[in-house]
Amino acid sequence: MARNPHYLSQMAHIEVYTTKLDESVKFFTDIVGLDETGREGNSVYLRAWGDYFFHTLKLTQNDKPGWGCLGWRADSEEALEDAVKYLESIGNGIGWVDGDLGHGKSYRFKSPDGHLHEIFWDVVWLKETGIRRSVFADRYASNRRKGICPRRFDHVTYNTAQYPAEKAFWNGFGLKNPDEVRINDDLPPIGGLFTTGNLSHDIAIFSDPALQKGEGVLNHVAFNFDSREEVLLACDWVIENGYKLAMGAPTRHKADEGFFIYIDEPGGNRFEFYAGARLIFAPDHGPDIHYLKDNPNDAWGDTSPWSAPDGSVKKEHGSYKS
Ligand SMILES: [Fe+2]
Repeated sequence: MARNPHYLSQMAHIEVYTTKLDESVKFFTDIVGLDETGREGNSVYLRAWGDYFFHTLKLTQNDKPGWGCLGWRADSEEALEDAVKYLESIGNGIGWVDGDLGHGKSYRFKSPDGHLHEIFWDVVWLKETGIRRSVFADRYASNRRKGICPRRFDHVTYNTAQYPAEKAFWNGFGLKNPDEVRINDDLPPIGGLFTTGNLSHDIAIFSDPALQKGEGVLNHVAFNFDSREEVLLACDWVIENGYKLAMGAPTRHKADEGFFIYIDEPGGNRFEFYAGARLIFAPDHGPDIHYLKDNPNDAWGDTSPWSAPDGSVKKEHGSYKS
């Protein structure tokens, strides 16, 4: 019987390392408006009001900021077993771990440039009671209009020294590839977006020529708003509270069309808050090709992760490192 061709139902959470756990938690609860749902050891678990699993963001104290582990939920218990067989067959598997506050046993693996991931089926659904309870039966927490107040976890972007290997890996894993970035058609692609479902992307991956193989890094983590107006209100809230917008005024991505801002949190990581990205439904769609000269990051201005220090967009693939 024809069925979903991938092993994954969704990207469920990310663990991010922070050099200042207390300051990061304060930022994400007071300024962003996430709810703290758990705390264990050197880690704090958070989620947006519209998320329904126990957590979508796990902050862990570490001597360096950046990528901890990206958590994916399998399509089913059987899909989890199939995914493990696939990962072991291509040599990317690491092994089983017992689980975490938000989920049961998980299988850990690495994508080609060494980023750590995990996949699980058993997950903790958290429907709040008490002060966080919502009167909406379909909300797992109420919207208390705290901080900039994103609705849900959206996507993760990471940098890699070898994008073509990442593309092959995620295509092989069954993800759709709605968008691709190239310098020209004669060179291998330098970036792309991948999704398990209908979002424009769960993960975006971009080459960074400054990186060595295996030195892959986190670029940013994104949360989603329902409206572009909330992006604008977020700008006021951020600067009123003494933080800065990392790439200036809000603008619109040309690839995926999200209206966005970036903010650097105190623990050393970049976060994006955005709204209005396109949705993809066709199983045989893409990739749509974007050329670097057209600045896929900014449809309206010249904001670019590939920008030169003076803000101009480089004609050649640059050396951006967040
Ligand atoms: Fe993004």
